[in-house]
Amino acid sequence: MKIAFIGYGQVGAALADHLQRVGHQVTLAANDPNSESVKKALARNPDLNVAAPKVAVNESEVVFLATPFHANEAALKAVADEIRGKTLVDCTNPVGPHLSHGLNSVQSGSEMVQKLVPETRVVKAFTIYGFENFENPAYPGYNVKPVLMYCGNDSEAKKIVGGLIAQLGWEPLDTGGLEQALHLEHMTLLWVRMVRVMGHSPHIVWAALSR
Ligand SMILES: NC(=O)c1ccc[n+]([C@@H]2O[C@H](COP(=O)([O-])OP(=O)(O)OC[C@H]3O[C@@H](n4cnc5c(N)ncnc54)[C@H](OP(=O)(O)O)[C@@H]3O)[C@@H](O)[C@H]2O)c1
Repeated sequence: MKIAFIGYGQVGAALADHLQRVGHQVTLAANDPNSESVKKALARNPDLNVAAPKVAVNESEVVFLATPFHANEAALKAVADEIRGKTLVDCTNPVGPHLSHGLNSVQSGSEMVQKLVPETRVVKAFTIYGFENFENPAYPGYNVKPVLMYCGNDSEAKKIVGGLIAQLGWEPLDTGGLEQALHLEHMTLLWVRMVRVMGHSPHIVWAALSR
């Protein structure tokens, strides 16, 4: 599958690297192909492609958005025409002061992203843990896989993203429509406060058990 990345810092570069290694054609959408973040991502995986944002998005079926939340609007406006109809994986989280919800829990960041690109199929995924777990999702010694919860309104897009989640070693768990994104964003804040403030291990993840 052809996949473009808008943003390839801690989260984006790890996911781009792994997705290329499991066989996808991954392109970094770059305004500046010589930027430090492009250089770092290529040093980690020289088989990633680099192209101007409009070209990268236009040629991809799936686009990952892994930018700081405040940069989403500018990043998406730059590819507004090209992203229409595509599956957009929203990896971003709105985080406010003192690790509060960045939109005061009034609406989710992903619903805001969906409003910015109304004709794009937004799926929120890869957000509920710190980047350490996207670097390496292996949890040896357990006979269950770590769970990765995602949500979105378009079932076809969710099927695609669920497949990518599984390929990267996670148990995909569809949590419903995009209205669930607010709850996933609160799960993120729970994880972040436990790990970054309380000092729990950054490798703590959830599992979904059922019977
Ligand atoms: N860090 C985590 O543990 C974690 C976990 C889950 C979700 N998230 C969420 O994932 C998102 C990315 O976090 P991160 O830690 O990966 O951030 P990061 O390391 O700071 O990387 C951000 C990336 O976005 C790019 N960028 C910034 N402004 C842009 C713009 N206007 N247009 C296009 N690209 C732009 C940066 O490029 P330059 O470096 O060239 O500026 C960089 O590649 C955030 O929304 C965060 O809340 C983070």
